[in-house]
Amino acid sequence: MSAAIPIDELRAQFIELADQDFAGYCPIYDRLARALSGDTDALACITEHRPGSTRTAVLLLGATHDLVLQDPGSGLAAIYRGDSDADPWPEFRALLLGRAADIATTMRTRTTQTNEVGRSANLLAVYASVSRALTRHGDDRPLSIIEIGPSAGLNLLADRFHVEYVRGDSIVSSAGRSTSPVHLRCELLSDTHFPGVTGMHEIVGRGGVDPAPVDITDPADARWLRACVWPGVPDRPERLAAAIDLARQDPPRLLRGDAVADLGEILRSVPDDVFPIVTSTWVLAYLPREDRTQVCALIDEIGASRDLAFVTGEAASVTPWIPPIDAERLPPGAEEGTPTVFGVRLWLGGQSRTWAPAVCHPHGRWMAWLEDEPPTEEPHG
Ligand SMILES: C[S@@+](CC[C@H](N)C(=O)[O-])C[C@H]1O[C@@H](n2cnc3c(N)ncnc32)[C@H](O)[C@@H]1O
Repeated sequence: MSAAIPIDELRAQFIELADQDFAGYCPIYDRLARALSGDTDALACITEHRPGSTRTAVLLLGATHDLVLQDPGSGLAAIYRGDSDADPWPEFRALLLGRAADIATTMRTRTTQTNEVGRSANLLAVYASVSRALTRHGDDRPLSIIEIGPSAGLNLLADRFHVEYVRGDSIVSSAGRSTSPVHLRCELLSDTHFPGVTGMHEIVGRGGVDPAPVDITDPADARWLRACVWPGVPDRPERLAAAIDLARQDPPRLLRGDAVADLGEILRSVPDDVFPIVTSTWVLAYLPREDRTQVCALIDEIGASRDLAFVTGEAASVTPWIPPIDAERLPPGAEEGTPTVFGVRLWLGGQSRTWAPAVCHPHGRWMAWLEDEPPTEEPHG
């Protein structure tokens, strides 16, 4: 049985989430996280069921949301949908105390699997940056995207979405067909020239590896994806639903497996006339530090003998191989939410280069474009 998380640790997780991620973005969870952090009885009723200790606070909110989605007539469901502006705390607390065992069971059997399609706006821009680097080296191969931790694999369909990159009211650049059912809007924060997705090579392969791939054709799995979305944030539920519908027409190929154990074999199976891009967004934080190090070591080992790129969209702390970004390069607004640093490690002809093209909102709401040109080749022994 998993160890019980101490109440004080859970309290601290909620305070950090409220301050760092919910304030000014998700008022419902901001209210609930602050109320929870001050309610020892509510916290204790969960911890006594020993739900495990990794990112418990986020999982608790998701597990409760899963129950809310199963009772659409409840007052809490109306608040979560935006049909009522009543205080969510009294009903939330009653649900938590009444269904603590069920919530803890969900927390033991599920992990946070938020499949945030807003990140596709950032990914497309970064894939284009990789493509332009390839073109500069005379390489016009099409791309095969291999996603570590794809959840349901919705971001593997990035090039089938319509994206508008905007500054204020002006559309600076766009990607994809405007007839796509999935529309994304990404605010450009920096004044740096944004090259858009120009020059992007065609994506001809897409697949992923996840210990718990989400099956969008299974109603409970699809509901869990919805439960992982923070309620009351405009557009998120709609674009998730549209992406699920799109993916159901042609589900991406997802393997049940592990980034460290299975990535090597998957990469080696990619034909030489296709350029593989391994992608991870908000996955490495869920891996132990030694596994994160091993994933990068594996990329470097394989990259030394076959061309590839590793695109990461993660918190800076879990990708130490990406050069740090000076705070003064970040425009105002970039501090909202835990920033996602997009990094590229590109291996071409046995030489690697690493750069950070962008810093983004964790759900792709905004992007500060930093640079396109990779630095000079890094020596590797
Ligand atoms: C927060 S979700 C992010 C999903 C998706 N990458 C996105 O950005 O929308 C984290 C995902 O990482 C997966 N994951 C956790 N440990 C993993 C591992 N060792 N190897 C591969 N995937 C893993 C989880 O199952 C989950 O689907």
